[in-house]
Parts: sequence; structure tokens; C-alpha cells
Amino acid sequence: MVRGAEMSKRDALPRSVRVFAPASVSNLGCGFDIFGMALERPGDEVVVRAAIGTGIVSVTVTGDLGRVPTDPARNAAALAVEGVLARLGSAASVAIEVHKGIPMASGLGGSAASAVAGAVAADALLGGDLDRTALLECAMIGERKGSGANHADNAAPSLIGGFVLVLPGAPPKMVPLPTPDDLVVAVAHPHMEVETRQAREILGDTIPLMAGVRQWGNAAGMVAGLLQGDWELIARCMCDAVAEPVRARLVPGFEQVKAAALDAGAEAAGLSGSGPSVLALCRGRPAAERVAAAMARAFRDAAGVNSDTVVSGAHAGGARILEIE
Ligand code: HSE
Repeated sequence: MVRGAEMSKRDALPRSVRVFAPASVSNLGCGFDIFGMALERPGDEVVVRAAIGTGIVSVTVTGDLGRVPTDPARNAAALAVEGVLARLGSAASVAIEVHKGIPMASGLGGSAASAVAGAVAADALLGGDLDRTALLECAMIGERKGSGANHADNAAPSLIGGFVLVLPGAPPKMVPLPTPDDLVVAVAHPHMEVETRQAREILGDTIPLMAGVRQWGNAAGMVAGLLQGDWELIARCMCDAVAEPVRARLVPGFEQVKAAALDAGAEAAGLSGSGPSVLALCRGRPAAERVAAAMARAFRDAAGVNSDTVVSGAHAGGARILEIE
């Protein structure tokens, strides 16, 4: 039986909520699984609607050429929504629409964005007020299905925006970090795919001690550089001693594209997440536009591959509710 107060709360609940969650670049060289930054675009949208039935009654997907699974047990947004229902102890029934704006297997945090948008939309639909950490944990359930691992370096910036250090653990901890005012990110997304799961499997489980020393030195230096607005430190530390050297072979033309970014004036460049996208940190938008064009040219010349480019400020916001009905 529904008591009076619960009844009026339930009556006031919306019928559907639409949420946008942005793409993100992650790792940023030295921060494997712990650094990520939101982009202004592209992004995914997820609509969660109240439905009649039990649990998640349907998942539909657009913008993916039919490739994203619509089975709720394999869909990142649906898994995140299910996480929200479980957290809220809700027996509600919902239908989910996912509108993909982020290319698949691009290294731009597409499954994380769908999962974040699903979690935020479900929470708003059900009148829950899960805090950011709880929403992140729900999104991570969806992300885990795709990559096979527990990492929140895309989901965290997609949720809260900006540059985020996310400390693994239960619960994970999001630490927003400042960026220099003139920081602009240039991204080249070549028209090829790298599955995160595969790009993680080839890394194995162990790293040489000295690679660890370089990596944690650079990660600490990156945090200090961001806090101090010290471009020299940021550029020096955006360097990956662990994953990029192994993964570079998955991205034809990667070394040439990185070199082209630096030649065109980027302060630093490297793989975005597990690739194949390449990101470059630049000072100012004109420099970032030049660097993005140079990276696209290099992908074409070195690998015969066309690319989309994105130029984005570093203060891009996170997930936002677009519509409540
Ligand atoms: N940190 C993750 C990885 C990001 O490098 O595997 C996946 O995009």
C-alpha cells in the first residue's frame, strides 16, 4: 500500500527525463585509469521513461549503426539504470532510449557517457537524490561491461566536467583539478576502432619497477603542474611509460600523428584512453585548431585514414538534464 506522502511524491514524478553526457579524453599520458577530462562535444543522450511492466522493459539505440547491444544485460546505459533502481530500492519499470553521438571504440569515453547519462536520467526520473559518488558507481557498472575492468577515468569527467583525478577504491573519489586558463584540447579521431577490452588485455598485469617510478613521478608532476598552472611541468609529465608504448601498435600512424601535433605547436600529445583517438594539449584555440588539422593530415598521410577532429576548452561541463516531462 502506498501511504499519502509517498503517493503525492510519486504523483509529482516526471514521466521522462532526457540527459546529455559529454565525451572525454582519459589517461592524459601518465594517469592510466585515474585522469580524465570532459570535452564540449560530442556526447550521448539518454532518455529514461516511466513504463508499465517490470524493471527495464526496453532499450532502443540510435546513431550506432545497429552495433550497441539492446539487451539490458549488455547495454552500458541500462546497466547503470539498473544500478540506480537497485540503490533506490525501486521496483519502477522504465524504457530507455540511447542516442549515440560518440563514435564507438574511439577512445572518447562513449560507453561511459551513455552509462552516466542513464544513471543521471534514472535518478531524476525516480526523484532520487543520489550523490555524485553513487551516480559514478552506478555508471561504472555500465562501463565495466564494455571494458571488462573497473575504471572511472571517463565516467568521472563525463559526470562532473572539467579535469578530474579519480582515485580507485570503494567508494571511488573524484578530485576536480584546475587547468591553465589557456588550455585547449585538440583531438583527432581516426576512422578506425580499438576495443578497450582488447587494448587492456595486451597490457598484462605487471610493469617494470622503473616504468612505475617514471609513471608515478609524472602523475604527481601533472597534479602539481595543474595546481600551479605550470605549462612546462604539465607538458613534461604528459608522458606514458606503461600503456602507450604497448598500445601504439594498435593505431597505425600513431607516432607520426603525435610528432605532427608537437611540430604544429602542441605542448604535449598522446593516446586518448585506449585509442585510437590522439589528444594534444595546446595553448589557445588557434593553436589547437592548427594542431587538430596537422594530426588529421598525418593520419591520412601515414595510415591512409580520415579523421574527425574536436577542439574543446578544458572547462567543459559534465552531464546535464536537457528535458523533464
Ligand atoms: N583508462 C582506460 C584505459 C580508458 O586506458 O584502458 C579507456 O578508454
